[in-house]
Amino acid sequence: MCCRYSVGMSPKSALKPKSEPLQAEISARPLALLQWYDRHRRRLPWRAAPGEASDPYRVWLSEIMLQQTTVKAVGPYFEKFVARWPDVTALGRASLDDVLRMWAGLGYYSRARNLYACAVAVTRDHGGVFPDTEEGLRALPGIGPYTAAAIAAIAFDRRTMPVDGNIERVVSRLFAVEEELPQAKSLIQQLAATLLADTRAGDSAQALMDLGASICTPKKPACSLCPLNEDCTARAQGTQETFPRKAPKKSGTLRRGAAFVVTRGDELLVRTRPEKGLLGGMTEVPGSDWLAGQDDATARKQAPDLKGLSRWQRKLGVVTHVFTHFPLELVVYTVKAEARTRAPEGMRWVPVATLADEALPNVMRKVIAHALD
Ligand code: ADE
Repeated sequence: MCCRYSVGMSPKSALKPKSEPLQAEISARPLALLQWYDRHRRRLPWRAAPGEASDPYRVWLSEIMLQQTTVKAVGPYFEKFVARWPDVTALGRASLDDVLRMWAGLGYYSRARNLYACAVAVTRDHGGVFPDTEEGLRALPGIGPYTAAAIAAIAFDRRTMPVDGNIERVVSRLFAVEEELPQAKSLIQQLAATLLADTRAGDSAQALMDLGASICTPKKPACSLCPLNEDCTARAQGTQETFPRKAPKKSGTLRRGAAFVVTRGDELLVRTRPEKGLLGGMTEVPGSDWLAGQDDATARKQAPDLKGLSRWQRKLGVVTHVFTHFPLELVVYTVKAEARTRAPEGMRWVPVATLADEALPNVMRKVIAHALD
């Protein structure tokens, strides 16, 4: 067999060193990683400088923002948040609307709601101090196992290894893990834990994150620069780009619908989505249901009922957007309303010039841009 670890091996036997040299390699890895990190760590706005203590608020905020979003996209949002709300109690005293507005554009809005709920809980129930254990952190809104481990390691140096996509890739290559994701998660978690140094757990985790982001990249990894290259099973086999093994992805069924963009002079008709569910509490233009296999005529019939409208125009083309569980295709209709046309119940007019202040999800930004094009 080509590999040290594969499907069917229990994690325990997979972890068992096969020989003395392997044992030596295992204990050398965490040190090699830390030495590499000390020279090559990324400067990130939420990261403490070498020798400085981490600020749990900044670590938590960054980890919530980084869920499903890139470091590059998060940077400006992180700076805006900490400038406006410099600590967790300031955020806990803000209004949810303000938080959603500041979050607009980052996507996955349930994260913003949980972020706020967590700030309120830490302020109200913990005297503004984050719990310093994984268990305590997990009890807070929006903090799952990964985020709890990341905060516990980075903010409190708890000896735990958070395993995100980058770390999964590094570990699956280093050990040539043949088992497919997501089943391989628990094996990868255990193998990743062998890369924790005895101290500086947070730096061990961040070293692996940085290695995955800058060297052990999904395509064309820069193996010659990697501190673990001599020890990497996938590299020895020349198969590094084929890891991690993954079960084929199911992309979700395409849903279709219509969006109705009504303008009244310089104003636009909008409404607020229900609090619960997808894009909960966000602003949108009126629209039809989003359903698999929905035909255009059925969607078109769900246009809002207003007096004093000109003729609806169908914009050429469609707006597409991909949510986590399904892709969406929207046909966009536009119409002009006379001055003083009243908004239907549950809807309101907002000046186009102040749309930036609304909690508009990306899909609605695309719709409005397409309509006003
Ligand atoms: N991805 C998730 N958490 C991260 C962190 N703390 N630093 C860099 N990338 C990350």
